[in-house]
Amino acid sequence: MTAADVVVAGGGLIGLSVAWRAAQRGLSVTVVDDAPGSGASWAAAGMLAPVSEAGYGEEALLRLCLASLERYPAFLDELAAATGVRVPLRTAGTLVVGFDDDDMRVLADLQGFHVELGLEVHRLLGRQVRRREPSLSPRVRGALHVAGDLSVDPRALHPALLAAAEGAGVRLLRSRAAGLLTEAGRARGLALADGAEVRAGTVVLALGPHSGDLAGTPAVPVRPVKGQILRLRGAAGLLDGTVRALVRGRSVYLVPQGDDGLVVGATVEERGFDATVTAGGVHDLLHDAIEVVPGVTELELAETLTRWRPGTPDNAPVLGPSGLPGLLLAAGHHRNGVLLTPLTGELLADLLVSGEVPALAAPFGGERFACR
Ligand code: GLY
Repeated sequence: MTAADVVVAGGGLIGLSVAWRAAQRGLSVTVVDDAPGSGASWAAAGMLAPVSEAGYGEEALLRLCLASLERYPAFLDELAAATGVRVPLRTAGTLVVGFDDDDMRVLADLQGFHVELGLEVHRLLGRQVRRREPSLSPRVRGALHVAGDLSVDPRALHPALLAAAEGAGVRLLRSRAAGLLTEAGRARGLALADGAEVRAGTVVLALGPHSGDLAGTPAVPVRPVKGQILRLRGAAGLLDGTVRALVRGRSVYLVPQGDDGLVVGATVEERGFDATVTAGGVHDLLHDAIEVVPGVTELELAETLTRWRPGTPDNAPVLGPSGLPGLLLAAGHHRNGVLLTPLTGELLADLLVSGEVPALAAPFGGERFACR
């Protein structure tokens, strides 16, 4: 049996960010994960693009995402100072491209939404779009350029965050959290699959799409939303920033990564924890990516994979108290886990230290789904 002030179930980006920030605030922290960083953190494209990921009516989520986006540069600076590893931040923004009159109307609406939010966005004509990204199809009629969007490689971010957390004293137990330990109506730690126990003053649930599955926890309405995603190689110089498009009603994004990588994503499927990579999923993603950037056809298809977004009924995360004393939630980040990593760590650490729910987290409590 081990003991800590805080035990975090889940060593993905969210769990590690909470653990790092909590350890920096003087708490003893243990993270439990048998394969840290192998879930959604491994699959995510790393777009830091709040507006192009947000739907209408999701303004509260959008504000949360914008607050986290603002923190990203300083977050990566701090990680670099702590670990000596500089995780690159791509700053070329997002181009949302359109092919026909319908698309151009959608882009005009989207531009109005950006302007209402006070965000910088520029409308570009086809010629201007291709000047910015020459590899785009000549069929592209126009685009919105969201200058403030960023992107990061989650596969580079995760090890840096793990090193920072361990450097701050966080202990990683490579085991699976099998159940919540409770005593006198309060969470007291985790039971592990290997039979061991970790006792703690507070348990933080950060199990991504599995956050609803831990035995003994109150009902947490997180469901897996399947995404198939592709990684291609040989894309050096192909794109400068993120490109998004609707192709025959299907949304596709292309995110350059590293020296010559390109991530193409992603399907959105309600199929539980189905891990299959399907011929249809790969076909649709490649077809749509090639419509947007014909040169994709020349690239090496390096990897196809499936992971699951942690979806909630309103697409926003569940942050803060759970209804069970001693159990905090950092779950349900759905399409915005990488983006919300810096802010989630900060908010949960504030809550752990002060016992008060920070104002930014208040709209995202578990009580909106009666998590108790
Ligand atoms: N954030 C991208 C996705 O969920 O596919």
